[in-house]
Amino acid sequence: MGMRKDLQETTKKKTFSEMQKERREQAQRSILISCPKKIPEKKLLKHLCQHGDITNHFFFESFGLHAVIEFSKKESIASLQDASFIPRGETEFPIPFKSRFFHLNLKNPSNQTSDVQCSNQSSPLNANIIKALCNAESVENQINTLMKILQLTEENIRLRYLTCSLIEDIAAAYFPSCTIKPFGSSVNTFGKLGCDLDMFLDLDDIGKNSTTKTEGSFLMEYQVKNVPSERWATQKILGVIGECLDNFGPGCVSVQKILNARCPLVRFSHQASGFQCDLTANNRIAMKSSELLYIYGSLDSRVRALAFSVRCWARQQSLTSSIPGSWLTNFSLTIMVIFFLQKRSPPVIPSLDSLKNLADVKDKCIIDNNDCTFVSNLDRIKPSENTETVDTLLCQFFEYFGNFPFNKNSINIRKGKEQNKPDSSPIYIQNPFEISLNISRNVNESQLERFVHLARESAWILQENKGQSSKTSTEPWGLAALLLPSVPNKSKAKKAGRGQTSEAVKKLLESIKAESTKDPRATRKK
Ligand code: GTP
Ligand code: MG
Repeated sequence: MGMRKDLQETTKKKTFSEMQKERREQAQRSILISCPKKIPEKKLLKHLCQHGDITNHFFFESFGLHAVIEFSKKESIASLQDASFIPRGETEFPIPFKSRFFHLNLKNPSNQTSDVQCSNQSSPLNANIIKALCNAESVENQINTLMKILQLTEENIRLRYLTCSLIEDIAAAYFPSCTIKPFGSSVNTFGKLGCDLDMFLDLDDIGKNSTTKTEGSFLMEYQVKNVPSERWATQKILGVIGECLDNFGPGCVSVQKILNARCPLVRFSHQASGFQCDLTANNRIAMKSSELLYIYGSLDSRVRALAFSVRCWARQQSLTSSIPGSWLTNFSLTIMVIFFLQKRSPPVIPSLDSLKNLADVKDKCIIDNNDCTFVSNLDRIKPSENTETVDTLLCQFFEYFGNFPFNKNSINIRKGKEQNKPDSSPIYIQNPFEISLNISRNVNESQLERFVHLARESAWILQENKGQSSKTSTEPWGLAALLLPSVPNKSKAKKAGRGQTSEAVKKLLESIKAESTKDPRATRKK
């Protein structure tokens, strides 16, 4: 019996909050160390073991060599902190802030040191991605290869949670029981190596416990300072924490307080982990959106496969950008992928309304009068009967949106059906939780036109390429052809400005041709 239960437990898919809880707890038992370039790994581990068992460790490069060490118990960290020193500055004065980010010095640098193996934390070069795709055997294979190359690795996920946990320690100096959790693409299953780290400062847990106990004749409240609005409070809190990160946060550089934005934030770079971080507060809906995407991404492997391909395609075609502007965002594109998959017959994934119908009492969630309820237990959602392959779906995605009546219909994942457009914005994607808002209201007519044009062109390329593989082609084919800095322009109207990268592309094509004239078996990986 016991065995059966174990088996059930391992096959049960984790809910979003179970996953977050487990990762956060793991991060709290972990430390970050900046190390000299060459280091005796075994000796270091032996040295650290004095403070307790180590369950996991890895090394990575980011402005020098760094190590992440996970102890099996939190107490080990206190013991290590007791044995560590604040450095003595000679020309500068150190601010004595004791954190879980350490610097390691070797007493005898020359002693039998060797290179350690580093885990890669950054996105591979485009040329290498395209080469890998050219060596795949089918479009389906290419899509899976792309996902494997770009998706967040186990180590990268650990590092993201550890970074949040380190920042949480700093924020906790003001609000002892606050939490800082990652959201957005770091946790929604759609993140790729190199994506930013969105952090959510949660102060709400602090108030939660106190409101329930009202027995007896007295009600004790905290004496607090009041400000005119919640936004005001958020700005004050983020302002102070931003200041603190700037002054005392080990490894936190380029701190910018962007407090007048629609959603106030502190942006900074965490140099040691290499992450660009956006810290927000009071942003519960965004966390709920991340959970929703997590559910869709975990339900059916085709969701992630398609979203990765489309997001990567859009980035390569400059349809999306790291700078905010009048273009589509990754968030909007992912919602479009979800909508398209809801519209297949039979559907690949259910509508948000059906996820809401599957919810139980503890899933109920209302945020600022918006109903954000949906099922959290993945096992309650029936698998899809749709059997289409990812390559068919990718081609169909481009065809579907290449011909979508954006002028009269809106995209609505709550219903899983298009609706009449409520206003005249070029593209209307209903915000799944704040249903009167359009998440793509920033997109202008010309960006939408570019999207439609490139979608049609891409559908065309994929159809033309059907059945073709590396055995016969001397040029990037299938998904690789879509990811070239500029899709080979088959239509008559060549647009100005799209030939800029042609030199780089030419070189790339030449190197691929050179390789494909060799024995293909010799160049194919695996
Ligand atoms: P990357 O481009 O890889 O960073 O994807 P991302 O999903 O992390 O997007 P981003 O960092 O821009 O935003 C983080 C999260 O904020 C998203 O996952 C959403 O949950 C939320 N978000 C972003 N843009 C919007 C928007 O326009 N409307 C709403 N409602 N939420 C948004
Ligand atoms: Mg992000």
